[in-house]
Amino acid sequence: MNYKNPDKDGYYGEFGGAFVPEMLYPNVEELQNNYLEIIESESFQREYQDLLKNYVGRATPLYFAKNLSEKYNTRIYLKREDLNHTGAHKINNAIGQVLQAKRLGKNRIIAETGAGQHGVATATACALLGLECIVYMGEVDIQRQAPNVARMKMLGAEVVPATSGSKTLKDAVNEALRDWINNPATTHYVIGSVVGPHPFPDLVARFQSIISKEIKEQLLEQTGRKNPDYVIACVGGGSNAAGAFYHFVEEKNVQLIAAEAGGFGVDSGKSAATTFLGTLGVLHGSKSLVMQTADGQVIEPHSISAGLDYPGIGPFHSNLFKENRAEFFSINDDEALQSAFQLTRIEGIIPALESAHALAVLDKKRFKKDDIIVICLSGRGDKDMETYLKHL
Ligand SMILES: Cc1ncc(COP(=O)(O)O)c(C=O)c1O
Repeated sequence: MNYKNPDKDGYYGEFGGAFVPEMLYPNVEELQNNYLEIIESESFQREYQDLLKNYVGRATPLYFAKNLSEKYNTRIYLKREDLNHTGAHKINNAIGQVLQAKRLGKNRIIAETGAGQHGVATATACALLGLECIVYMGEVDIQRQAPNVARMKMLGAEVVPATSGSKTLKDAVNEALRDWINNPATTHYVIGSVVGPHPFPDLVARFQSIISKEIKEQLLEQTGRKNPDYVIACVGGGSNAAGAFYHFVEEKNVQLIAAEAGGFGVDSGKSAATTFLGTLGVLHGSKSLVMQTADGQVIEPHSISAGLDYPGIGPFHSNLFKENRAEFFSINDDEALQSAFQLTRIEGIIPALESAHALAVLDKKRFKKDDIIVICLSGRGDKDMETYLKHL
């Protein structure tokens, strides 16, 4: 499987495709027909790369975490996506998609958000590029990620609560898709992860692939080696992981590790560990692994981190799982919290709760002294302070 080029219908093996209502088809088809030509054009790349460098602050550092390395007796590098403008990897994709939407003549942007990072990133791009922005967010997430709601409002976005189901990310995606069906001509839906109908999984993976491109260059410069032994990232829908894995998938000697949200535990009935609990199904427009009942009803997920609280994963990751190309770990809420506290105390970095799931893999697997491990630190923890303080 060539993960950089899913087939023309957007399939990674048996996962992917575009399962959308007829009303939405013209929008999706317009994107399918135009996205590659737009984003590969020289003028797009000039504008996008300039913003990544001078506005977002890329390249983000690849930081050798000396204290963490000593603790685990191995060599650990952190890819500091938390240092991006707005505090997470989400801006890499949001700016790309908003630029692309402008070139398609759209003047109204909608987005869903869980942790609020994608909503903030999209609202930021819209403020910068002068487009209207509406963000759908589950009511539960509006409460637990309040600082990001305030930021979106200050940036001029309208934040619309999603009040169905578990009132979290899945429900926000449903509302955004509903809006798109009702406003097909003027609106572009900036999806925040490698989910949704083709071409979104490929489009978002391409925008996030800058993460592994930089890791390769920085690792070579710092260690003389082009490839690490392991790359570890958390998976909600899977965009930071897809970006961190992208340029390593073909390199068979690089082991890929994905950390999913175990919630209270995979057997607890309150979990979001899709590869452990999911089966083949269609969610939000693509065929992938989905947490569902025998008759196809989506099971409400749970995670302490809003960004991982999702009952599916993108087709890219479903295929990595099926092909055994990546190893998947389920990290429970309390394990993620402990890893966040540890990183804060020994490295002076407060990670996002989502990223803390990737860090927790260090306690699940034994690494050799000479191994080089790169962990994608997808975001910073400012938005999670209320949760952290409750558990200190
Ligand atoms: C900091 C951070 N990391 C990870 C994620 C999970 O998303 P994805 O799996 O698409 O990277 C989110 C989602 O909101 C996030 O805010």
